[in-house]
Amino acid sequence: MTSEVLITAGAGELHRAAARLFVEAAGAAAGPKGTFTVALSGGSTPRGVYALLAEDPSIRTSVPWEHTDFFWSDERCVPPDHPDSNYRTAWEVMLSKVPVPPQNIHRVRGESEDPQAEAAAYETVIRETLSLVTDHRPSFDLILLGMGADGHTASLFPGSEALRERSRLVVATRVESLRAPRITFTLPLINAARHIVILVSGKDKAEALSRVHDPSPGAAPLPAGLVRPFDGELTWVVDEDAAGLLGSGTLPPP
Ligand code: 6PG
Repeated sequence: MTSEVLITAGAGELHRAAARLFVEAAGAAAGPKGTFTVALSGGSTPRGVYALLAEDPSIRTSVPWEHTDFFWSDERCVPPDHPDSNYRTAWEVMLSKVPVPPQNIHRVRGESEDPQAEAAAYETVIRETLSLVTDHRPSFDLILLGMGADGHTASLFPGSEALRERSRLVVATRVESLRAPRITFTLPLINAARHIVILVSGKDKAEALSRVHDPSPGAAPLPAGLVRPFDGELTWVVDEDAAGLLGSGTLPPP
């Protein structure tokens, strides 16, 4: 695993840095193998990245849209037109504006009456679509993630049973703090990715980010701290507000 932390002056620069990483990962994948598989993050932080990818002419023209397969690293158990739907955010801000073949948009059916069955069905689509790495694990070319103020990532929350999942790649989980069901990638799938980019913006994330990067001895790791690609690259893209509590010397110079 190679890991780096990019600190940006503000959210705008974070979005631009993340869009650049997206384009680089797309080129690195679609060049040799002709396809690019990416799992999008939910939440609000990536909205600005999706807008740049769809609307900035220099960036938009660099994405192999026709050869890209879009997935989601987690989804709320709501219909696709619900305001909380991660699919709806990505569709409205980006996917409805770019030439991605409809069959390449693999949304999680959040409306399913049986989230566990939907999780299993989604895992099957992933296994059928992605190329396998050496140990027959499906490996995304890129997974985008965010991090909550409690250190959760995707829908892997502190104390969640899903954090201990070692064989299933996608599971349904109940987020007690939100009293809501979610469908989420598990760590075996996340950590099999060739490149993981975690986007963190805002002062409210500073404490969790410092606990991830400078954990107290003996402290249980936060979920985002368990994102450690087996063989791939991990890039944290954080703005100065979120990086405010990171100890000096823990980061490579910007
Ligand atoms: C979700 C996300 C979740 C998100 C973090 C950060 O479905 O909400 O997958 O993990 O990335 O909660 O969310 P913000 O970007 O809105 O701060």
